[in-house]
Amino acid sequence: MLKNKLIFEKPVLITKPVMVDLTELNHELREVWNSGWLTNNGYKHQELEVRLRNEIFNNFATSLVVNATIGLLIALKTLDIKGEVITTPFTFPATAHAISWAGLKPIFCDIDPVTMNIDSEKIESLITDRTSAIVGVHVFGNPCDVEKIDKIAKKYNLKVIYDAAHAFELEINDRSIVNYGDASVFSFHATKLFHTAEGGAIVFKEKSMKGKCDIIKNFGIKGDDVVECGINGKMNELQAAVGLLMLKEKEEERELRKLIEGIYMKELSGVDGVILPNREKKVTKNSLQYFVIRVDADKFGKTRDDVFEELRKNNVFARKYFYPLCTEYNHYSCKNIDIKNAEKIVEQVLCLPFHGGLSIKDATAITKIIKNISKK
Ligand SMILES: Cc1ncc(COP(=O)(O)O)c(C=O)c1O
Repeated sequence: MLKNKLIFEKPVLITKPVMVDLTELNHELREVWNSGWLTNNGYKHQELEVRLRNEIFNNFATSLVVNATIGLLIALKTLDIKGEVITTPFTFPATAHAISWAGLKPIFCDIDPVTMNIDSEKIESLITDRTSAIVGVHVFGNPCDVEKIDKIAKKYNLKVIYDAAHAFELEINDRSIVNYGDASVFSFHATKLFHTAEGGAIVFKEKSMKGKCDIIKNFGIKGDDVVECGINGKMNELQAAVGLLMLKEKEEERELRKLIEGIYMKELSGVDGVILPNREKKVTKNSLQYFVIRVDADKFGKTRDDVFEELRKNNVFARKYFYPLCTEYNHYSCKNIDIKNAEKIVEQVLCLPFHGGLSIKDATAITKIIKNISKK
């Protein structure tokens, strides 16, 4: 009889991919089939790359990739990063792992307690003569302290790469986020607002980087020669075809997500112990990728894990992104490092279901479950 007590009879997942129109996809794929060209910079790849560069990425050099994890690896190689890289422990494994796969050492820096991004005030103390780059992550679409990070990078002659997996179309003061750092790497995974099923893009500030990047993502081959230690990071035509259709669909998805964000904000504001996303004024366009709350157990009377469990009992699958911290992974030995803010925040964060397929009624019901927990 437990079923009757559930608010949601069917599981409510954290996200749900936008499924592009199948008839239109069929049309795109027919063109691919007619071309007989499935990968290696085909027509759809070329078209998507140009459109993203012109329409989204401020005309900066853009290179499509098979996914953002490989994209990060390729960006690190293209910018010739060596030695140590200062990054955040509060991120998806892909960020730190790409650094390690590139043969580099991630040095974990504590995070800012509000934005949850790498704390720009603590970066300088971690710089050594082995440091060659900073990899910031615009976590949950909150922009890093890009201006301060650019200043530090200039002072110490470091490169800056932003993991922009959550930051598609993010703008600060009406400027695209791609204007900051040497490269930004976007994810087009199915869970993202704009997606290509799997995929991503690297956007470089310096035009000349694209040529090198395109060689690295194609095994290091240049003409008849092999000139770089490359990898296979190419996006294929099927992925690009989905992306071309998503360029049309993304605006509707954005509007739907804005509604859900509005419901969560309205229903949860004023709930003692529930910390809502703090959208800084400078964010003039939000990437609408995640909706994340923080549970302050002292004030709320229940822990984040209690909220997580109660939602799950009701068939709502929230996620504890990014738990555990990268510094907890067995393969990184990170003893005695000062990451107090990250350690606190990782116990508080909870990503709520957030996608255009979620109804206002469902979003409201999720907030009711949360509000009721504190009374139990
Ligand atoms: C912060 C961050 N970086 C990188 C990635 C990896 O992206 P992809 O799945 O495209 O490799 C993700 C995945 O969502 C992510 O959250």
